[in-house]
Amino acid sequence: MDMHICKNYEDLSTKACAHVVGQIAGKENSVLGLATGGTPEGMYKNLAEQHEKGELSFQHVTTFNLDEYIGLPTYHPLSYRAYMKAHLFSKVDLSAVNTHLPDGQAADLTAECARYEALLRDAGGVDLQVLGLGHNGHIGFNEPGTPFSSTTHIVELDEKTREANARYFEKKSDVPRKAITMGIETILAAREILVLISGADKAEALREMLYREITNEFPATALQQHPNVTILADEQAAKELPGQ
Ligand code: GLP
Repeated sequence: MDMHICKNYEDLSTKACAHVVGQIAGKENSVLGLATGGTPEGMYKNLAEQHEKGELSFQHVTTFNLDEYIGLPTYHPLSYRAYMKAHLFSKVDLSAVNTHLPDGQAADLTAECARYEALLRDAGGVDLQVLGLGHNGHIGFNEPGTPFSSTTHIVELDEKTREANARYFEKKSDVPRKAITMGIETILAAREILVLISGADKAEALREMLYREITNEFPATALQQHPNVTILADEQAAKELPGQ
């Protein structure tokens, strides 16, 4: 894994943006895997600014998000579709038909998981997958205990994850209990993975991701098996690493 320690969140966001820009510059019809959460917001802001300045086009890019809540209408402001619209889709020239998220409102959710996997496969797979890291080691919404052989599936959200995401909702009981997420096998199939980790509250999780034995009790340890992972961590997140 290729580890870069960034001065602070701004620096991390600038470098993450540059990484995505580099990907698109090398392949204009790139397939990007995208993440939600607080961590990538700065990267999206920078990408939108570069587009605004006329320096970046997503015209030929296709995107696949990692996950979506089950049960929130797509027009709900806290759906991941709404998040992506607010932070990126409405600000760049991505074509609507090229932006994909699992449909958490589908009548047949099992069929939806299969549809999403097939769509990903038909698009040729993900070139660059952006990932955040949950405090309990989750990637996407793959909670501890998820088999590494998992493909897109329905998950029951961990209480810790619901607590972490409660900050966006009025009250914790409003946080959905289920979601659809790309599986760990789906994530590891990406040709390259870019992991963004910011803040002192993620320091322990980052250390575990890098140094704990590979175990599905800490899903992010699966990344140790991938041949092309870049990690951008800010100094706060890196403070528990040996030598820091
Ligand atoms: C969420 C998302 C993940 C995200 C993670 C960390 O629950 N499903 O995709 O990476 O938790 O979020 P944050 O960046 O807000 O800490």
